[in-house]
Amino acid sequence: MVICRSKSEIAKIRRACDVVSGVLAEVRRAVNPGRTTRELDRVAEEYIISKGAFPAFKGYRGYPASICTSVNQQVVHGIPSDYALQAGDILGIDAGAVLDGYYGDAAITVPVGDIDGELINLLQITRAALMKGIDQARPGRRVFDISHAVQQHVESNGYSVVRDFVGHGIGTHLHEDPQVPNYGEPGKGKRLVEGMVLAIEPMVNTKGFEVKTLSDNWTVITADGGYSAHFEHSVAILSDGPAILTEWD
Ligand code: MF3
Ligand code: CO
Repeated sequence: MVICRSKSEIAKIRRACDVVSGVLAEVRRAVNPGRTTRELDRVAEEYIISKGAFPAFKGYRGYPASICTSVNQQVVHGIPSDYALQAGDILGIDAGAVLDGYYGDAAITVPVGDIDGELINLLQITRAALMKGIDQARPGRRVFDISHAVQQHVESNGYSVVRDFVGHGIGTHLHEDPQVPNYGEPGKGKRLVEGMVLAIEPMVNTKGFEVKTLSDNWTVITADGGYSAHFEHSVAILSDGPAILTEWD
């Protein structure tokens, strides 16, 4: 069942999203060759707690950390570890916070030091695909209008979009209805109405869209060894269009 949020509920979701925006900014500042992803997780957790919030991912279905850190061929749900980042890596940082019972969720993918031109392009296209999807998040459109806009931008630039993981509604739970796939036929899916809040999150691969999950039961990697990028915003559908509740660049 899709939930429509009141203005005061959206204000509460926005406060959680402000914490998420702050975490992404803090973690991104700490990204450097030599840093371990576990150190980044500690930066994130301390920041979230200092804001009186709680890391939404920690303990979610047994997830062991406060953020997801997904490097290079890792698509999403990389678990922070002793891996030391290297110049030339790309790092996906996904963060969630719950504050006063309301959730925020967002992700960015950032370069570590200087990266290859092809990877710069991957980051730009993934991010632009998210923005194309967000532009469809308006009353009267349908869920798959978002999906289609994302897919269209990704595939017309020669990349592929992951099928096995999707965006989602967000509010008093991390994951609510509806699912928001990053591929689909325009004009299909549930109608979007004012008050819906969606986490839109394209995952884009340089090669095929197929992915697999490692034996840690979390880390998702590309099946063919291609690189992958992920960007996510929590977005409220207002009468006059999309309002991005999280913030990064
Ligand atoms: N942004 C991701 C999602 O919405 C992150 C979830 S990680 C988890 O699914 F640990 F919470 F599962
Ligand atoms: Co999400």
